[in-house]
Amino acid sequence: MSKRTIVTFVMLLLVIGCGKNQQAEIKIGGIFPLTGSAATFGKSSQQGMQMAVDAFNAEGGILIDGQKKLVKAVFDDTEGKPEQATNVCRKQIDQDGVVAIVGAVMSKNSLAIAPIAQGKQIPMISSASTNPEVTQKGDYIFRVCFIDPFQGTVMADYAVKNLQVQRAAILYDNGNDYNKGLANFFEQRFRELGGTIVAKEAFTDEDKTVDFRAQLTNIKAAQPEFLYLPNYYTASATILVQARELGLNVPAGGGDGWDSPKLVEIGGEAVEGGVFSNHFSREEPREKVQNFIQQYQQRYGTEPDALASLAYDAAYVMLLAIKQAKSTDGAKIRDQLKDIDLQGVTGNISFDEERNPIKSAAILQIQNGQQKYLTTIYPE
Ligand code: PHE
Repeated sequence: MSKRTIVTFVMLLLVIGCGKNQQAEIKIGGIFPLTGSAATFGKSSQQGMQMAVDAFNAEGGILIDGQKKLVKAVFDDTEGKPEQATNVCRKQIDQDGVVAIVGAVMSKNSLAIAPIAQGKQIPMISSASTNPEVTQKGDYIFRVCFIDPFQGTVMADYAVKNLQVQRAAILYDNGNDYNKGLANFFEQRFRELGGTIVAKEAFTDEDKTVDFRAQLTNIKAAQPEFLYLPNYYTASATILVQARELGLNVPAGGGDGWDSPKLVEIGGEAVEGGVFSNHFSREEPREKVQNFIQQYQQRYGTEPDALASLAYDAAYVMLLAIKQAKSTDGAKIRDQLKDIDLQGVTGNISFDEERNPIKSAAILQIQNGQQKYLTTIYPE
């Protein structure tokens, strides 16, 4: 090779290298349960987040250090398990080079990955994890959903004031931070309002438990007027099928974990009349909500649930913070997140000192196999 050829070759490499640099995308991670017994949560979240990413790219991307960059979402599956969540979180940060993380959904998984993100100064925003301890892991950890002390209170209030029940039973997964926390917050408020918890029964690992009859038999003997099930949809629906078989026909309620089309698919008649607190109602007339529903439906052929809407908002908020920071530096993004004030699909989003938003909850009821909006409860 002549000297000239070598020089040309090297220059060519440099040009390709620079071009690549200019076009380089910024990557943000999406960590969701794409398989397992909460898989509908993951699918919805991925779809919602992708819509937010596409919205930013359609506007020409984000200006970083004076260069326009497109955003690429890197999605990984937690399988609903904390160990797997930590594996994919490390992979996203160390190998993929994500500059921020959206996720996880299940609180136990967010609790597992938050210390990693915090340690590496990668801003993380959970779309849907409601356990209060998630954002307490550090100042890089935010969320766009309300928290369980509020959600548990909302349902206890509804049971006592609207359903006028005095005797409640709780059946929950004691190996899961979300279920355990929500059970306690409901219990505390229900007692405060003068009610009695006549039975509190537990099982371990809703992924593996299929038979709840022993616990339900104890619960039935305690003669509750209301059954609170702060679990995800697979366990909650299965419990209700078995409860009805055993002749336990009292009204039932739960939290956001009930928000899946599978609740009715698995539970059928047994879940009819069930009430649960949620982040979002498709019946809300607000323009932002109705536009989002329309776009989502056009794209995916189904209506968005709370998970899709929350993931859209979470990704949108994170991208907005990156855009405003004009940088992928973790500390700069975090500082921008603190000042966010946005009308999202799921309500107003701005953060308190614990990096939680102050939001209302919708109460929904299963009527003829559909979610019907009953009322909105605002924080005091
Ligand atoms: N709040 C649940 C948790 O923290 C996750 C969830 C959110 C599930 C919204 C359904 C809808 O584990």
